[in-house]
Amino acid sequence: MDLGISSPQIDNPERGFSFRAEGPLDMRMDTTRGQSVADWLADASLETMTEVIRDYGEERFAGQIAKAIDRRRQERGPLGTTTELAEVVAGAVKTREPGKDPATRTFQAFRIFINAELEELARALDASLKVLQPGGRLVVISFHSLEDRIVKQFIAGHSRDVFDRRAPFAEPKVMHFKALGRTKPGEEEVAGNPRSRSAVMRVAERTGAPA
Ligand SMILES: C[S@@+](CC[C@H](N)C(=O)[O-])C[C@H]1O[C@@H](n2cnc3c(N)ncnc32)[C@H](O)[C@@H]1O
Repeated sequence: MDLGISSPQIDNPERGFSFRAEGPLDMRMDTTRGQSVADWLADASLETMTEVIRDYGEERFAGQIAKAIDRRRQERGPLGTTTELAEVVAGAVKTREPGKDPATRTFQAFRIFINAELEELARALDASLKVLQPGGRLVVISFHSLEDRIVKQFIAGHSRDVFDRRAPFAEPKVMHFKALGRTKPGEEEVAGNPRSRSAVMRVAERTGAPA
């Protein structure tokens, strides 16, 4: 599983994933279903926007950004483009992280939320238990800590026999995977492909234990 968005998606302004190019504020990975970010933002409450930006963007200015979006909506109507959102966020974020656009975390948050990426990831990991044969390998490449945490906990949770202290005589929950480690890109790879800089690859081997 190679998670997140693909380069063709982010490089196409019409998909609305990037704050670097003007396009419709969409961000759906599958444009045949669901709400675009613009549609969702038109009615989202201040609380929900703050929660999404804080939880999925790990953005400490979540409150200020949500208030700025709300003010913008009231003064000039709903946001329609990526540039409009990036400008509102840049105005609300008072500090600058070196080499990082102030809109990065908010765009990541809205993308993860609108595509239910973390829920989809959890479902896909559970499904891997059923589709992998003994000796089969689960390989997941994630690009931010929210994803990697889910993958890490899934593999850890399934790679040890778990005895239920409340039921000492019950059969232990058997290990389904053998964790085979974590790999991060080296300097050479990051130099050749800067988009790999935050990638983490985790590998686990499926045991013979039934799902
Ligand atoms: C990082 S890209 C994969 C790039 C690909 N490995 C490549 O090298 O060109 C992840 C892809 O997964 C797709 N995707 C996202 N959620 C998905 C899901 N639940 N099921 C299937 N594909 C999904 C996205 O649309 C995106 O194109």
